[in-house]
Amino acid sequence: MAIKKAGFSTRSIHSGEKQDETGSITTPIYQTAPFEFKNASHGADLMGGRGKGYVYSRGANPTTEVLEEKIADLEDAQAALAQTTGMAAISAAVFTSIKGGDHVIADEVIYGSTYDLFVELKNFGVDVTFVDSSDANNVESAFRPNTKLVFFETPANPTLKLTDIKAVCDIAHEKDATVMVDNTFMTPYFQKPIKLGADVVVHSATKYLNGHGDTLGGMIVGSSDYIKSARHTAKNMGGSITPFSSWLIIRGMKTLSIRMDRHTENAMSVAKFLQGHDKINTVIYPGLHDHPQYELGREQMSGAGGMIAFMLEDPKDVPVFLDSLKLCTLAVSLGETCTLIQHPATMTHGVVPRDDRLSYGITDELVRLSVGLEDACDIIDDIEQALGLI
Ligand SMILES: Cc1ncc(COP(=O)(O)O)c(C=O)c1O
Repeated sequence: MAIKKAGFSTRSIHSGEKQDETGSITTPIYQTAPFEFKNASHGADLMGGRGKGYVYSRGANPTTEVLEEKIADLEDAQAALAQTTGMAAISAAVFTSIKGGDHVIADEVIYGSTYDLFVELKNFGVDVTFVDSSDANNVESAFRPNTKLVFFETPANPTLKLTDIKAVCDIAHEKDATVMVDNTFMTPYFQKPIKLGADVVVHSATKYLNGHGDTLGGMIVGSSDYIKSARHTAKNMGGSITPFSSWLIIRGMKTLSIRMDRHTENAMSVAKFLQGHDKINTVIYPGLHDHPQYELGREQMSGAGGMIAFMLEDPKDVPVFLDSLKLCTLAVSLGETCTLIQHPATMTHGVVPRDDRLSYGITDELVRLSVGLEDACDIIDDIEQALGLI
């Protein structure tokens, strides 16, 4: 359904959806591995890349295509490719963008497995320089003649620092490098990196896009040419999403706008409460005026989202605090209906070497909170009682 000019919520519900002959108002789950060829020459044509049709769900599937059209439309992009996890999407996008001998610039504060993937690229003859991309000059200084890719998250997981998407894109494009932005924390509801100049957007759809913590998923979003090439690479890597997971994420995305608004409203209440608590040292939330990049956030994001980072006075209190919570769930992941809390230093970012981690601001006293959709007063009551026990 082509509704490019409709509002975000309308598009999140209707984009990509097609009605079949049954009149089903939801997308059917085409739970099949191969698709039958009409005859031998039809099979030979499709396998040879001639004509349109489905062959095998590792390459394309009608349920997944609805999801891909929906996210491409919402990100104001030409095309998208869904993968089975965020890491499958990031790996496939990285391998689409670089080859042995290339150089990559990545922000130093990124999700732990993404960081680890970049470290592993050394085994494939790819050098990666980690920089603090919140200052675009650092990106410029790190450029080498063979730099082909610049990668960052904004806001970054877990410290919630921001990178100026447009400034970094201007620098990178001057030097013909691809800019890839992980937009997991904001979703296209609050931030559209492609409109600001990014070439490729990746998502862990496991998080806000699906929104219910019941499936994994990943997205690569970009130009038609880029996605064609990513589809080729990804098909060989084999990280295709299952039709059922695609269906769950399609359903989740239909409520993305109202969920993101509520996550943000709740996060603002929780952040203000934390700011006023004497056992909390620092609260980092892009919606607070004292976030060092508050103005940049207002320019490139239309909402502050549901993620908060905060520091207790003493790192030794962290386990006691986490173990005392009753409503907030101690688990990694984020962007779900329920509030999730975790300790990056020992959990999501445990793979980052300690000295590097500390220099990036991922300290032992830092706690990451994914504020859920419960009543804000209940989340606050729970945090307050747990803080009372340390
Ligand atoms: C910002 C970000 N990107 C990517 C990923 C990886 O996503 P997945 O767990 O779906 O592979 C995560 C996971 O937490 C994440 O937080």
